[in-house]
Amino acid sequence: MRIDIITLFPEVFTPLDTSIVKRAIDKGITEILIWNLRNFTKDKHKKVDDTPYGGGKGMVLQCEPIFAAVEHIKKQNKTSKVILTTPQGALFNQGVAKKLSSEKGLIIICGHYEGVDERISTIVDYEISIGDYVLTGGELPAMVITDALVRLLPGVLPKDAPVYDSFNRNLLDWPSYTKPATFKGMEVPEVLISGNHEKIAKWRKEESEKRTKKRRPDLYRNYLKQEKKNE
Ligand code: ADE
Repeated sequence: MRIDIITLFPEVFTPLDTSIVKRAIDKGITEILIWNLRNFTKDKHKKVDDTPYGGGKGMVLQCEPIFAAVEHIKKQNKTSKVILTTPQGALFNQGVAKKLSSEKGLIIICGHYEGVDERISTIVDYEISIGDYVLTGGELPAMVITDALVRLLPGVLPKDAPVYDSFNRNLLDWPSYTKPATFKGMEVPEVLISGNHEKIAKWRKEESEKRTKKRRPDLYRNYLKQEKKNE
């Protein structure tokens, strides 16, 4: 999958050059291209924003360079879908990540400043927010979205690994432990050392349920509904 990111801050995208995402790039599973929005403006001062019509504080990103950037990238990858990162978007979650990971290509426009000219919505397929808080820009959301969906691409993680992710079953992960078995007087739960796989599976399921019920009652309600359906 090809992912193109349009941003005013191309230099911040180094985290995508490490670890699992880097391995996916090296294996040729994904290609991530970072585009500087300023290179698409016709303004001689490379200006990409202006004051809002109707008055008010702040600057609004202009249509022209964004349209030019998207048109340029679409010439190279016609089928790419376009995402705008914005706190006004639909909430991102594992289900959205899964859906996006089946697209052939994605163009992510990083929103910035106080807003983006609304006419950009005519070329956008998905407006996405990564949470109910306001960040200074769309760069971190673009990295979050890219990371979450690259790990779902076939061949990136061991086969079937993401099936056990938190959220796939409306359950949070169970607690994990590794060596040593005793640390500062804290013991690893005995069942995990028992070698009894049936008991371990039961314990993990119960711990996942307990944790989800306490920390994420919203998810837990969905889990119960899903369990009822499966009965
Ligand atoms: N830009 C600023 N805040 C954001 C958020 N929460 N999600 C996506 N884009 C954003």
